[in-house]
Amino acid sequence: MNPKNRKTFYIETFGCAMNVHDSEKVAGTLRTLGYEPVESVEEAGFVFFNTCSIREKAAEKVFSRLGVLRKTAPQKKVGVLGCVAQQEGTRFFKRAPNVNLVVGSASYHNLPHLVRQVEAGLDQVIDTSQDDDHCFETEITQRLHPYRAYITIIEGCNNVCAFCVVPFTRGPERSRSSQQVLEDVLKLVDAGYTEVQLLGQNVNSYRDPLGRRTFAQLLGAVAEVPGIRRVRFATSNPQNFVPEIVEAIDAHPALCNAVHLPVQSGSSTVLSRMRREYTREEYLRKVAFIRRSPREIAISTDVIVAFPGETEKEFEETVSLVEAVGYQQMYSFIYSPRPNTAAQGFTDTLPAEEKSRRLAFLQNRQHEIQVTLAQRMIGRTVEVLVDGRSVKDENTLSGRSATNYVVNFNGPASLPGQYVHVQILRSGANSLWGLLVEPEGRDNILPDRTIEAISMGT
Ligand code: SAH
Ligand code: F3S
Repeated sequence: MNPKNRKTFYIETFGCAMNVHDSEKVAGTLRTLGYEPVESVEEAGFVFFNTCSIREKAAEKVFSRLGVLRKTAPQKKVGVLGCVAQQEGTRFFKRAPNVNLVVGSASYHNLPHLVRQVEAGLDQVIDTSQDDDHCFETEITQRLHPYRAYITIIEGCNNVCAFCVVPFTRGPERSRSSQQVLEDVLKLVDAGYTEVQLLGQNVNSYRDPLGRRTFAQLLGAVAEVPGIRRVRFATSNPQNFVPEIVEAIDAHPALCNAVHLPVQSGSSTVLSRMRREYTREEYLRKVAFIRRSPREIAISTDVIVAFPGETEKEFEETVSLVEAVGYQQMYSFIYSPRPNTAAQGFTDTLPAEEKSRRLAFLQNRQHEIQVTLAQRMIGRTVEVLVDGRSVKDENTLSGRSATNYVVNFNGPASLPGQYVHVQILRSGANSLWGLLVEPEGRDNILPDRTIEAISMGT
């Protein structure tokens, strides 16, 4: 092809795993339209930003990127995708006149039509409708990771947490049928994947449209697919987290013994103002039944500090809950007011320095807890899916344990993609270092089982 006619694209993705996976699907869709992926904005004819609106800082990032592009490469075609696209709609064209295309997170299935409109020279092409009750699925998904793959099981959210913009940007809940999900898993096994992560804003409210499987049953069915070694899932809203999920983890070794259970606050009064549907005590009861599992399930969480009106005492309840649970990992944020949400109108008088002090205090405490928890791993042998060379030291290999620790060790360059056992010698807060005990072949994948043959039995 004449290089002048070559159609190229680059996508920069902000935000959560759902966005990362959407970008993989958008990339697949663009390839079906004759576009080739390139490694940088500079090389690309069409640049896409897949945006995140969860906090103000994240949302503003896209505008600084667009400003730079406008100065350095005004001739490039520019598309804005994701939650900020959904939220800002046509306002994008005013604030960033170099934008050609705005596609909200519920409208990607229209992408081929919309991209063709841009190619035909139409200006300010936009689709931010939310009237489709389907999930976004494509024939080709251009997956970024060679060994672990994302699968969407549910999109959108029907809850009304007072701080959260997601129900406005992602629309109402839509679940995919468990049959479709299992077909995806089978295709991934055929392509050589052994680890899958089931994705949704709130995976626990999964409802199989065909009524065949509950979420816990779907977890079990995915874990039983021959060739699948690891199944992860996120995010679990505590309100829908039921004992059956823990029972599924107990019964299926391929289900990773790790649960992400965002608490947001340790104070029942703050949780009520946040419109979360559980109290501190109910949350701790769920933690207690997770802890009763014989498999030692790692729990991670998200916390928002300085939600409007949070008193010192309410903040201390969050600190005491974090100490009581002993999270393996915590993602914590200062509350950020978001458009359309209920909390946007709440009175917020706490000085910025006090918000930062609370966040730093909580993060320091959590760091100590993580260091202590990770020390308990010393002397144990863990199974690791090897990802590749360590970012910090190219003589070291690096991978993930089932509970999501980064594990570093020395070993042959042939190991990435394989499962090995590593005996832990040293620990940090998020990472472990150890000795390779025994490489294990990749011999339990069944590439020749056809998708049809297996799906008959599902
Ligand atoms: N569905 C998940 C949350 C998804 S949003 C749940 O039920 O918990 C990811 C995380 O971003 C949230 O857990 C929360 O901690 C954080 N977050 C969401 N809105 C926020 C806001 N307005 N300010 C600060 N952090 C926020
Ligand atoms: Fe947001 Fe609450 Fe849904 S945090 S994604 S509205 S469960």
